[in-house]
Amino acid sequence: MKPGTAVILLGRNGYSSAPSEQLTRLVAALRESGAHGLATSAFIDGSSPSLPDALGLCVAQGMARALVVPVYLPTDRNLHNWLNRLVRRWLHHNAAADFTVHMTPPLGDAPELAAAVVDLVASYADAPLTPLAANHASPNSPEWSLIPPHSYHVLLCRGPRCNAAGAGEAAQALKQRLKAKNMGDDTVLVAQTGCLYPCNLGPVMVVYPEGLWYGGLTEKGVERIVEEHFEGGEIVAHYARYPSRQTQQRPTALEQV
Ligand code: FES
Repeated sequence: MKPGTAVILLGRNGYSSAPSEQLTRLVAALRESGAHGLATSAFIDGSSPSLPDALGLCVAQGMARALVVPVYLPTDRNLHNWLNRLVRRWLHHNAAADFTVHMTPPLGDAPELAAAVVDLVASYADAPLTPLAANHASPNSPEWSLIPPHSYHVLLCRGPRCNAAGAGEAAQALKQRLKAKNMGDDTVLVAQTGCLYPCNLGPVMVVYPEGLWYGGLTEKGVERIVEEHFEGGEIVAHYARYPSRQTQQRPTALEQV
């Protein structure tokens, strides 16, 4: 590996801590090898940092080259093509002239993976594994039948396009602002979701009971929505978008004040 090369392990669906921890372990193994200028992780959806943010980190740390390794399974050909377009667009807007990005084929296409699976299965062929015992207990927690009382229900998109557009920062700002305002789940119940469809307006969220869409969310925009909508009951018109068969523009960041 050339000096000054960063490796970004790219995962998916980091909605809970377990996938992040697994990726962290893989990154740690890369770091221990000492073969790379930088080893880090990024998430396509559901968690942070996004791939654009991880690329920004590589540039900030003086890396000359980034090798992006998609380690999620199963392979999604359409998603992989979109990732290529995302990186090209990011390079167009952000990167220094001498910074290059390369992307390996997805893990699922690597012949080494098939060999590793064969080895894994073979290694357990005669292993004294304990069989799972039958048990009548439900696999579900009783709490999963509760619908907590709440005033507002927020669906915050962490799908691929919204994540790349800054949904991680919006989610963090929402969490911090609600906490600062002492608004718990009983006031604003937040659920992070996959793609909600109008990706070009991202990052987006939908607020119920109004069924109101907000787009182009920034940290400042989220703060305004908490204060003006959830606290004051007023829709923040600049970020509001309504169902239509016409294409719409994402709200600009004009109101970063
Ligand atoms: S990824 Fe958020 S609307 Fe599609």
